[in-house]
Amino acid sequence: MTSKHITPVGVGLIGAGAIGAFHGETLARRLPDARLAAVADPAPGAAERLAAAVGGARATTDPTELIADPTVEAVVIAAPARFHADLVEAAAGAGKAVFCEKPMAITLADADRAIAAARTAGVPLQVGFNRRFDRSFRAAHELIAKGGIGTPQLIRSLTRDPGLADPSRVPPWTIFLETLIHDFDALRYLNPGAEAVDVYAVADALVRPDWKDRGLLDTAVVTVHFDNGAIATAEANFQAVYGYDIRGEVFGSAGMVTAGDIRRTNMTFYGAEGVVSDAWQRNVDLFHDAYVAQLADFVECVRAGATPTPTGEDARAALAIALAAIRSVETGRPVRLDQVEKPADR
Ligand SMILES: NC(=O)c1ccc[n+]([C@@H]2O[C@H](COP(=O)([O-])OP(=O)(O)OC[C@H]3O[C@@H](n4cnc5c(N)ncnc54)[C@H](O)[C@@H]3O)[C@@H](O)[C@H]2O)c1
Repeated sequence: MTSKHITPVGVGLIGAGAIGAFHGETLARRLPDARLAAVADPAPGAAERLAAAVGGARATTDPTELIADPTVEAVVIAAPARFHADLVEAAAGAGKAVFCEKPMAITLADADRAIAAARTAGVPLQVGFNRRFDRSFRAAHELIAKGGIGTPQLIRSLTRDPGLADPSRVPPWTIFLETLIHDFDALRYLNPGAEAVDVYAVADALVRPDWKDRGLLDTAVVTVHFDNGAIATAEANFQAVYGYDIRGEVFGSAGMVTAGDIRRTNMTFYGAEGVVSDAWQRNVDLFHDAYVAQLADFVECVRAGATPTPTGEDARAALAIALAAIRSVETGRPVRLDQVEKPADR
């Protein structure tokens, strides 16, 4: 029997904000093997609006009610980061497969709790590091994994967001916990099997210096030393005037590979004022296919009883680098990963 003859997996979505709306549309319309069964969001009207827009899903303001819904086999968590670990624990505890947006947790103790809940329940747990599902990042990873560039020596990953609209909506340390966490995972993905040993970070408010005294950091560079010797940098800035720019590069003993391209297409306009390409402006455009592919993979793993990746352990490893980067900014010194493993990890 082919998968299209099997009943679609009933999925409940928790969080109907920016990325939740995209995931809700994906589950309702873009994946034949999934069915958006329910949406939960405590903001009055948010779940109803999304459910009405995509059609066919139940709406509630109570995530607990969604988790208890017997038609919900799997849960996609797109609530704000500080709620993630509790929601993973609750969903896994109810026997539901879990896809959780990044970061899966904001302390290592919470990450451990989420991982343990999924393991104890025996349910799949996947984390939203969508770059792993981008074609060029995946092709780079596969090439590196089969030795195509020899031994990785220099690795870089960068995120430049197109605009910092409202600094009051950016909690302290967001640049590490929510933005660069993608790059920390990308560095691990592009250096397969290696783990970070120490981290040194420099950060500032260069886009909005007037917000620095309220804890905003909008520009950062992080150096990460890996246990296979590779030296990596991750960098981020919240305001690239030209668009949404995500790239990776690995230089090794036998060559170099790059991934990511800001150009929307390979159409280039040559005119009197110069040469122009269109750039991506939104994450849901640049990563449209990757966002869909990661949920397709999750649904397929739920159906097949397979273990999805990236895992809760991948989320924890990226979080540990983010916490080390934060401590490095606080102290002005390099921080070993084992230093953030201590109980008071912040
Ligand atoms: N992978 C990616 O590229 C990507 C992109 C964007 C956002 N994200 C992540 O997704 C998460 C959500 O980001 P966003 O930009 O959609 O935020 P958002 O603020 O636009 O939406 C969050 C939604 O969650 C709701 N919410 C608040 N508390 C809740 C709770 N306890 N339970 C359920 N819902 C609750 C809010 O009412 C809101 O509708 C963040 O962790 C963010 O880092 C990931």
